[in-house]
Amino acid sequence: MKRSKYLVPLSWEHHNALLNANRLHKGIANRTETRILLEFANFIWQNDLFPHFQREENIIMTRQEWPHVPEHLRTRVLQEHQTMDDLVKRLNNLSDEDEIRRLLNELASMVISHVRFEERELFPAIEEAFFEQSLQKIEQALREAHVPGCTIWSPKFWQKKE
Ligand SMILES: [Fe+2]
Ligand SMILES: [Fe+2]
Repeated sequence: MKRSKYLVPLSWEHHNALLNANRLHKGIANRTETRILLEFANFIWQNDLFPHFQREENIIMTRQEWPHVPEHLRTRVLQEHQTMDDLVKRLNNLSDEDEIRRLLNELASMVISHVRFEERELFPAIEEAFFEQSLQKIEQALREAHVPGCTIWSPKFWQKKE
């Protein structure tokens, strides 16, 4: 995957988001307890994913060139952020374990497809629509705001055999 030079701090965060989404998929497949999976999902949501979406929205989408990015891409990115936010809220208001697991699976799949969409379609469109000077400012702001994501977690439920 070709990385956008200016948006590289977001790509580091994407790498981590993919790692954790795959861990969730593995945990569902190897029948890890729902409570453990939900705790993990809430942790990565609060520490990695939600702040990452906020950085995208506050650092990139508030700039004057944002309206020059094709509308279907702008709509999609915001809709998906909202859908994942709603999913996490629903997850925490359910008692049916099968339904929780189904939604955890859906969340992990959405994270993966959202990251792919941004890397393949949204980021190249941003680099095309934005002025060089603006992209440099964005890069600097992203580097300052970047927080290394959660990679250490216990228990390592994803290592359990299926
Ligand atoms: Fe995003
Ligand atoms: Fe992203």
